[in-house]
Amino acid sequence: MSQRIRKAVFPVAGLGTRFLPATKTVPKEMLPVVDKPLIQYAVDEAIEAGCDTLVFVTNRYKHSVADYFDKAYELEQKLEKAGKSELLAVIRDVLPRHVRAVFVTQAEALGLGHAVLCAQPVVGDEPFAVLLPDDLIWNKGPGALRQMADLAEKESASVIAVQDVPREQTGSYGIVATRDFSGRHGEITAIVEKPRPEVAPSNLAVVGRYVLSGRIFELLKHTRPGAGGEIQLTDGIAALMAEERVLAYRFQGRRFDCGSRIGLVEATIEFALDHEDLAEPAREYMRAALAR
Ligand code: UTP
Repeated sequence: MSQRIRKAVFPVAGLGTRFLPATKTVPKEMLPVVDKPLIQYAVDEAIEAGCDTLVFVTNRYKHSVADYFDKAYELEQKLEKAGKSELLAVIRDVLPRHVRAVFVTQAEALGLGHAVLCAQPVVGDEPFAVLLPDDLIWNKGPGALRQMADLAEKESASVIAVQDVPREQTGSYGIVATRDFSGRHGEITAIVEKPRPEVAPSNLAVVGRYVLSGRIFELLKHTRPGAGGEIQLTDGIAALMAEERVLAYRFQGRRFDCGSRIGLVEATIEFALDHEDLAEPAREYMRAALAR
């Protein structure tokens, strides 16, 4: 698959129970970090990696994700009349002109693997990316997905983002065993969903960025429900590894687990401290708050 990825899948049909009651009406992906919703950070990363077709896997409660990427006629007119050209650019830049958004429905939350499979009619059999927007990855240089797409193209292989985690946390992640890991990547020889620390094959944890061969769809069709009764992407990847090379890639950048409350707080603090207008007042406020 020495092909450059063009399509990115965003599975956003989960229930987001860790953010209830907010997620009763606001999808988790629409929670903001400073002034942008989580989904926008992931979309920007996919576009930077070269994707021009974005496939959102949603459900009937997530209209606001589609609304967000739609044109806001009334708002645009008002801003235009008021001469607020900077704000106008901000809302128009949500999606550049050359990028198209496609929405597919996952009628029932049957798991991440099932959500990815729902994108098959749009993706076809070409290599594609999967981004989980609640993993916010921040890098001053090229984004994590761009780094992965470059490697996938060069090595003609699927690539999965991994990060070192403390051993006591392996039970919260998919964990990989690798061979010939040098520099930042190595071939995956085994992938286990949420192993206990004493049986985990390593402390390299899979995080929410994948570049996958289109072959995964056929394999996901035959994947039975696994951990938690859900169709797991991890099981589909394990089947893919039996046929094709799948690489683990330790990306450059920092990941915030914005699917958890503390991760969202950490991301908000970091992004505020890096923001050109907010950095100084945020720093001052934090100093004062910590001194109390
Ligand atoms: P999570 O495991 O974070 O689940 O899903 P969740 O429902 O979003 O959140 P919590 O744990 O209840 O708080 C990982 C990713 O897979 C998507 C989610 O939207 C999220 O991006 N997903 C999961 C689906 O799209 N469909 C599913 O059936 C399950």
